[in-house]
Amino acid sequence: MKAPVWMKTRFTLVHLTDLHITAEEDGRVRGVETASRLEAVVASVNTLSPAPDLAIITGDFSVGGSPAAYRRAAELLATLRIPVRAALGNHDDPDTFRAIMGPLGFAGGGEPCHTLDIAGWRILLLNSKWSGVKEGFLGADQRRRLREELERDPASPTLIFMHHHVVPLGLPWVDRDNLQDWNEFLELLGTAGNVRAVFSGHAHQARQHTWRGIPFFVTPSTGYQFARDVREIRVDTQEPPAYRIIRVRGDLVSTEIRQVALASSDAVAAGPDAAAAAGK
Ligand SMILES: [Fe+2]
Ligand SMILES: [Fe+2]
Repeated sequence: MKAPVWMKTRFTLVHLTDLHITAEEDGRVRGVETASRLEAVVASVNTLSPAPDLAIITGDFSVGGSPAAYRRAAELLATLRIPVRAALGNHDDPDTFRAIMGPLGFAGGGEPCHTLDIAGWRILLLNSKWSGVKEGFLGADQRRRLREELERDPASPTLIFMHHHVVPLGLPWVDRDNLQDWNEFLELLGTAGNVRAVFSGHAHQARQHTWRGIPFFVTPSTGYQFARDVREIRVDTQEPPAYRIIRVRGDLVSTEIRQVALASSDAVAAGPDAAAAAGK
């Protein structure tokens, strides 16, 4: 049977987030060797067939935002066989990111309302990193730019990506630092009517919810996941690194979490680590 006309638009994205790469070669974050896990994620993405059209990485590239951490992240991502666009997270340093990773083709990092077009769909990367704090903010200027962009072309279906999760997840330790101007953001989406999905990271776990028919996806980290424990922040040692595959076929958006099997040598150290301040 032939595919109906509305199915003719076809593209695939992969969403990677929360890499938390350290400056030191064998550095661990919360007991986890994040570099080897990112390596395994990149290898998994490279096996996808057909190859996705684009990888979108929504921040927390580094721990500490040092040039050495970004150099290591760039090295690990260099083997990805598809183009990459980036948004930044609370652990990133925009100036250092741009200096180290910008010339290597990691476009979009920290830029407000970075816009791409794929097969008639609009992809918007928002900057939710706010200088000096771990909470997410879009800010009035970026919200205005977003409104103008959505109004400029109301016909194009739109996918939005940003680092911080938008809607509170019901976990006190992670809901302290979600997108702080989320009410204004939702109001904007409600008026626009052309946003088909919103993708975030930051919470280091897989989540999905819907607001007025718009799905909000939280994608797990390529490094480590947090347990859904309401009392405290702790790594779930059973949860492997993961990423999200997003397939658009006509008007249909489907997503799938791809977990990456751990090598047996990848043990998670027990208890809090020296990088506990690394947080989300
Ligand atoms: Fe974060
Ligand atoms: Fe993170």
